[in-house]
Amino acid sequence: MKHLIPEFEKMKERFPAGFESSLVLPCLHRIQADRGFVADEDIDGLVAYLGVPRVQVEEVLSYYTMLRREGIGRHHLQVCRNIACSMRGAEGVIEHACKRLGVKPGETTADGKFTLSTVECLGSCGTAPVMMVNDAYHENLTLEELDRLIEGLVVEERAGEKR
Ligand code: FES
Repeated sequence: MKHLIPEFEKMKERFPAGFESSLVLPCLHRIQADRGFVADEDIDGLVAYLGVPRVQVEEVLSYYTMLRREGIGRHHLQVCRNIACSMRGAEGVIEHACKRLGVKPGETTADGKFTLSTVECLGSCGTAPVMMVNDAYHENLTLEELDRLIEGLVVEERAGEKR
């Protein structure tokens, strides 16, 4: 993460001195965008750079489900399992996605192409059930739509392999 320090320095300019802990979240976002996840050495580097307690960085990492500690597949399916989505069929969506992909929540397919995660509220309760595929929201999700989405991604992957 050392190569990101010039960017972190620019971010730092926007905060008053003594507010280093406010930089933990934006720095972790930037690290993840760079590496795909946050590694142990990134935590060590950030603790040393910001001078904040390690537990502060780990708290942020464990609270925000969008921050990852391991690499994921090329397509990340995140199904909300919170109350509104649960009441509107999220469990069935999760079960169906597990069957289609052959993985459990938190796992990546053997070919490294798909990771399935369950997450807490995605902030779109009025259109439950909701799933994110990479950065896109899919709302009022049905099992048929889930099948279409997965099939579309499989076709996209196959086309990529032929190129
Ligand atoms: S409960 Fe699923 S988006 Fe809020």
